[in-house]
Amino acid sequence: MIKLRQLDPISDVIALQSVLEAAPQYALNILGHPQEAGAAADVFAALPLEFPKTNKYVFGIHHGESLIGCIDLLRGFPTPNSAHIGLLLIKESAQGRGFGQAAFQKVEELVRTWSEIRTLRLGVVETNRVVLGFWLKQGFNLTEKAVPYEHKTVHSRVLILEKTI
Ligand SMILES: CC(C)(COP(=O)(O)OP(=O)(O)OC[C@H]1O[C@@H](n2cnc3c(N)ncnc32)[C@H](O)[C@@H]1OP(=O)(O)O)[C@@H](O)C(=O)NCCC(=O)NCCS
Repeated sequence: MIKLRQLDPISDVIALQSVLEAAPQYALNILGHPQEAGAAADVFAALPLEFPKTNKYVFGIHHGESLIGCIDLLRGFPTPNSAHIGLLLIKESAQGRGFGQAAFQKVEELVRTWSEIRTLRLGVVETNRVVLGFWLKQGFNLTEKAVPYEHKTVHSRVLILEKTI
């Protein structure tokens, strides 16, 4: 039904930008404004301090020939035994049709082949808490951890969810 393919920071940046712009409600929820022109380049570039580039993956979610979404994944963050989903996004016109769940299942399958990884983890900005139900359905649990989140006019918290795999 869908396929994941690793995206290239140069040849796929325009396509990724279009997908990000095609999910405007997400941008409003977490940024308080539409995506900026460099959003896709930022997805490729974003890396925790001193984190090896080779352990970061940006996948496109393809339905047939169309790019309908993306996933950003870090292997070995924030601990060597965790993998962190930075973003799973499906463009709005394709939401609610099972693609997000199918993409997550493919990511989980991949992460299960990484023998050192015991925990999948992600953060949900509270102003985007509408997606919490999706993650709970995928087997994640809310943890006690939450970190402050500030972006321009958005003052919120990032709720941390985890799933043992
Ligand atoms: C969250 C997101 C990835 C879900 O993808 P999707 O393709 O719309 O979701 P699916 O159709 O695969 O839904 C799978 C299941 O989760 C449920 N679900 C989806 N969104 C939900 C929500 N917001 N609240 C509760 N349940 C939800 C669906 O009802 C479905 O359940 P069912 O199988 O019982 O019908 C998508 O809405 C999205 O890209 N949102 C914008 C970006 C974003 O916020 N990403 C998360 C950042 S942490």
